[in-house]
Amino acid sequence: MKKIVLALALLVLPGLSLAATAGYPLMKAPIDLHDKPSLQRGAKLFVNYCMGCHSLEHQRYNRMARDIGLTDEEVKANLIFTGAKVGDLMKNAMPKAAAKQWFGVTPPDLTVIARSRGVDYLYTYLQTFYQDPTRPFGVNNAVFPNAGMPHVLWQLQGMQKAVYEVHKDHEGNETKVLTGFELVQPGSMSAPQFKESMADLVNFLAYAGEPIKLERQKVGIWVLLFLGLAFVVFYLLKKEYWKDIH
Ligand code: HEC
Repeated sequence: MKKIVLALALLVLPGLSLAATAGYPLMKAPIDLHDKPSLQRGAKLFVNYCMGCHSLEHQRYNRMARDIGLTDEEVKANLIFTGAKVGDLMKNAMPKAAAKQWFGVTPPDLTVIARSRGVDYLYTYLQTFYQDPTRPFGVNNAVFPNAGMPHVLWQLQGMQKAVYEVHKDHEGNETKVLTGFELVQPGSMSAPQFKESMADLVNFLAYAGEPIKLERQKVGIWVLLFLGLAFVVFYLLKKEYWKDIH
């Protein structure tokens, strides 16, 4: 019995410690790398709203086009604003030194951000900017406290303010816990629309972090089929070889 209790405790402990460090709970990002229209919408959001400050330095426009189901012409017409050629890497035009001066930090390249931070984090990060007049850009973030990034999507999402609950521990100490948000100024999108758009954007970033994932999955299926076939052949061979010995 003791052992079972211990095993159960060990099972839940990592979860508990995670919850304690992350603070605000992460929302689950509905990622689907096979959903090409979603990846295309995500790419469009990225070049329109993020590439001013962030690059995807390890990704080329034409590679992206092919992977998410666009032609080079469509990319040139709709997704390139910097004068870049379709075979170029997706760099941005912002000089790093100036960016550091403006924001205090250089906006990081986002090629592998989905892998380093996780998609749920990104999905939550993008939806939890809230009003905070004490910060340089007037906003703060629930999962990245004191982030140096402005709320660049406020025209779409609108502006929200934080809602707190006061938690009392058994000694009577009170702590303010961020539990949710309240829209104070609506944006051009409804809440469900904005959520869906952020799913598209994170889907696109997940793709950008691992562009060969789709290919690898396809290859994986063939490998499994091959192994299955090989097993049948080898089994029959074994039966054939051993049939006179038994
Ligand atoms: C006006 C410039 C600007 C724009 C536009 C911008 N960002 Fe940022 N972003 C920043 C800066 C500056 C940081 C660094 C923040 C810090 O480290 O405090 C940052 C950091 C980030 C991070 C890293 C968070 C972390 O945990 O390290 C992510 C993810 C991110 N941005 C995503 C986006 C996405 C997605 C968009 C488009 C919707 C976008 N950003 C648009 C300036 C910008």
